[in-house]
Amino acid sequence: MTEHINQSLSGKKYLILTYGCQMNERDSEVLEGYLENLGYCPASAEKDADIIILNTCCVREKAELKVFGKLGELSKLKKEKPELIIGICGCMTQQDEVYERIRDKAPYVNLVFGTYNVHQLPNLLLKIQNTDEPAYEIWEKEGDIVENNVSRRIDRIKAYVNISYGCDNFCTYCIVPHVRGRERSRTPDKIVEEISGLVKEGYKEIMLLGQNVNSYGKDLNSNLDFADLLVEVNKIDGLERIRYMTSHPRDFTDKLVETIARCKKVCEHYHLPVQAGSNKILKAMNRGYTREEYLDLVEKIQSISPNYSITSDIIVGFPGEGEEDFKDTLDIVERVRFDAAYTFAYSPRRGTPAAAMECQIKDEEKKERLHRLMEVQNKISLEKNMKLVGTNMEVLVESPSKTDSSRLTGRTRTNKIVNFSGEQSLIGTIINVKITKAQTWNLIGEL
Ligand code: 5AD
Ligand code: SF4
Repeated sequence: MTEHINQSLSGKKYLILTYGCQMNERDSEVLEGYLENLGYCPASAEKDADIIILNTCCVREKAELKVFGKLGELSKLKKEKPELIIGICGCMTQQDEVYERIRDKAPYVNLVFGTYNVHQLPNLLLKIQNTDEPAYEIWEKEGDIVENNVSRRIDRIKAYVNISYGCDNFCTYCIVPHVRGRERSRTPDKIVEEISGLVKEGYKEIMLLGQNVNSYGKDLNSNLDFADLLVEVNKIDGLERIRYMTSHPRDFTDKLVETIARCKKVCEHYHLPVQAGSNKILKAMNRGYTREEYLDLVEKIQSISPNYSITSDIIVGFPGEGEEDFKDTLDIVERVRFDAAYTFAYSPRRGTPAAAMECQIKDEEKKERLHRLMEVQNKISLEKNMKLVGTNMEVLVESPSKTDSSRLTGRTRTNKIVNFSGEQSLIGTIINVKITKAQTWNLIGEL
């Protein structure tokens, strides 16, 4: 693998467009690292780029449609600039039909690689450079974890750290196990080493990433589990905050709840995707818990960590979801009172069991339920945020505010966004902010 500046590529410009979740964002950081080592520098616009890579997501149809739309646009750019390299990688490319569609219908795409082939980018580019032929590399199965420290991180204050790859859960609606392979955990020493390095560089917060963080370690030949890993990470001097994404309610053991409460750097924010409130639908989804078990878990968290926040992912319109089942979802939302929820209309994914189930729900019905759910949730989000008005909250200042660059934005430990006026020099520090106003999605405050 070449990791040296390549003279002929030096000065060429790249652009990576990332779709989907934090896993993809992290992969894009690694891809950018490889490109910079080859001599590329970032392009500020598509028209200036010599290589454009789409890092894709296929969790719902909408995500795929966006990528096909973008490919259409890029085909025009390629006509004006034939030497442009157009690449596509990420979750979509792992699906045979998508791969074939790109190969047959989008000949202008000259670089295609899968989720297990990220580390091969330099070699694939060399192949294109040397042969002028397109380079396709998609493994059907995961390989061993490739450890490297090549990456260009997007943020200077908080960083993503992979702890595991893949997923063994096989929820019946979900494409992820099919495109990201079986669960593989990184060893704790590699994780701690990476985080210690980040802290030395000045990072304050890390987000431990895995498709299902609580099953971390099951594939390692040790007794270490996710709770034990948190204890180790919590010991790292200079690190201020630890977050993790995503955890599964089924594997959220008492030991984990207690460890999170005990480890002071681990934030009091629980993202626990409930997906549905009806036991019938939870069973059909293969989630492995009942609504009662989920509610018990929330109660346990509340009893041990009173100032917690809780967020969720919820799907409406799963096959066979009747009005009563949907009402169970509304009911669990009212009972738990999530701080926020990401709500989705069920999208059938080829090759998943749910896509082949009978009683698929009509699109209009899904839309209507989504609307009703969002209405209930938004009201709760606002009410919960209003309760914080007048309190002082600990905020890690992240950046100038996106909507008003003269203001700052940061997050509380409970993952609420707070916007306020302050000096740019506060970026990267932890301060107390008095909350003066609440909105559905964020808080306004003053120093
Ligand atoms: N349709 C709709 N939403 C889905 N999710 C995963 N698969 C699907 C699907 N087929 C949602 C789940 C998951 C989030 C990342 O995306 O709620 O937690
Ligand atoms: Fe999308 Fe899932 Fe892949 Fe993330 S892992 S990019 S959500 S399909």
